[in-house]
Amino acid sequence: MRIAVTGGLGFIGSAVIRHLLTGVELPGGGPGPTVLNIDKATYAATTGSVASVSDLDRYQHAAVDIADGPSIQAALIEFEPDAVVHLAAESHVDRSIDGPGQFIRTNVVGTFELLQAARMEAERRSMLEDFRFVHVSTDEVFGSLAMDAAPFTETTAYDPRSPYSASKAASDHFVRAWHETYGLPTIITNCSNNYGPFHFPEKLIPLMIIKAKAGEPLPVYGKGENIRDWLYVEDHARAIVTALLQGAPGETYAIGGSAEQSNLDVVQAICDLVDEALGDRVGGRRDLITFVDDRPGHDLRYAIDSTKAQTELGWKPSVDFTEGLRRTVDWFLANEWWWQPLLDERYAGQRLGTVGGGDDQP
Ligand code: NAD
Ligand code: DAU
Repeated sequence: MRIAVTGGLGFIGSAVIRHLLTGVELPGGGPGPTVLNIDKATYAATTGSVASVSDLDRYQHAAVDIADGPSIQAALIEFEPDAVVHLAAESHVDRSIDGPGQFIRTNVVGTFELLQAARMEAERRSMLEDFRFVHVSTDEVFGSLAMDAAPFTETTAYDPRSPYSASKAASDHFVRAWHETYGLPTIITNCSNNYGPFHFPEKLIPLMIIKAKAGEPLPVYGKGENIRDWLYVEDHARAIVTALLQGAPGETYAIGGSAEQSNLDVVQAICDLVDEALGDRVGGRRDLITFVDDRPGHDLRYAIDSTKAQTELGWKPSVDFTEGLRRTVDWFLANEWWWQPLLDERYAGQRLGTVGGGDDQP
């Protein structure tokens, strides 16, 4: 099987590629899949995240922008994939508030160009019905869940509220349209918040670990009451590959960890784990927690009901939040080689997403 993975130098895409190249037995046996990692290498990309597999003969990388139609078409014609697994995106909500234009370029236009290229390539090789296009999306397309509401499912109405989630919702609609109109066999996954190794330090969990280690203030938006449903990234990678191999074309699968936590609880748990690991701060790190201005349009709560994925795909999370957070804190404390250059060269840990008004032209 030949699989083109977009966004494979990012947090989740790299976990998918590591899993495809080292953890998957294909139905019927045979050699493992050959993977083309299509990633234009934005600020969020790191080669360190695929260093454990990038020397394998079955791994290739193409530095292509998915929004560049001719280039993405050429990449697929040359590689001749049986499937595309699409993760390339601008992924950070706060950056979408500061500069929504790039989110529309990559997440909307890029997904459109990729759909066209995949469809043309599948038709060129007369394999439209056997082709697979897995689109990795987010639970944020469903909007803000009330505290007493039932978790999101595959049938929850779309209600995106940030530039990021609106761009992902648009991309989901295009994917469904390419299935209904052109017969491209697409599968969509909508997943909750991921955490784990190689998570870019702009996101809550890695940022708090790194700041806690340094003894810096830990900025919690609003009152820290917002709730996210956390899934360990390797469990998400397994879900995506299972959807690719066993999912039904045209279907959507909601993926989540059933691990709802308030942001304040998450940050307090990180403080305690870093204290325990370093044992260097009298009184502990919880007093570093600082409540700061809220994120504009901050969604109150996300939660996923993954019953369909569990019953129809046989997937379920394997790492609970307590264990996953401990592993993640240990990983970040042991792997400064990976994140310190990112802080030095790309993102210094400053607040993002408060004022808006950056690059807003698609
Ligand atoms: P990330 O920001 O860590 O990585 C994105 C990768 O895409 C980067 O390597 C980047 O270089 C690449 N990329 C960006 N624009 C590109 C372009 N125009 N052409 C080619 N490559 C490009 O993102 P992530 O957190 O790994 O998220 C991956 C996907 O999963 C996204 O589609 C995101 O919406 C979705 N998702 C993320 C989460 C989460 O918690 N992080 C949860 C659910 C769904
Ligand atoms: O739900 C899935 C989504 O999860 C993905 O689609 C996105 O790509 C991913 O970035 C993530 O979005 P969030 O906005 O939930 O993640 P983030 O890590 O930015 O923030 C998590 C929560 O923590 C959110 O309620 C905002 C809050 N927060 C975040 C930061 C960076 C803080 O309180 N302080 C911070 O410094």
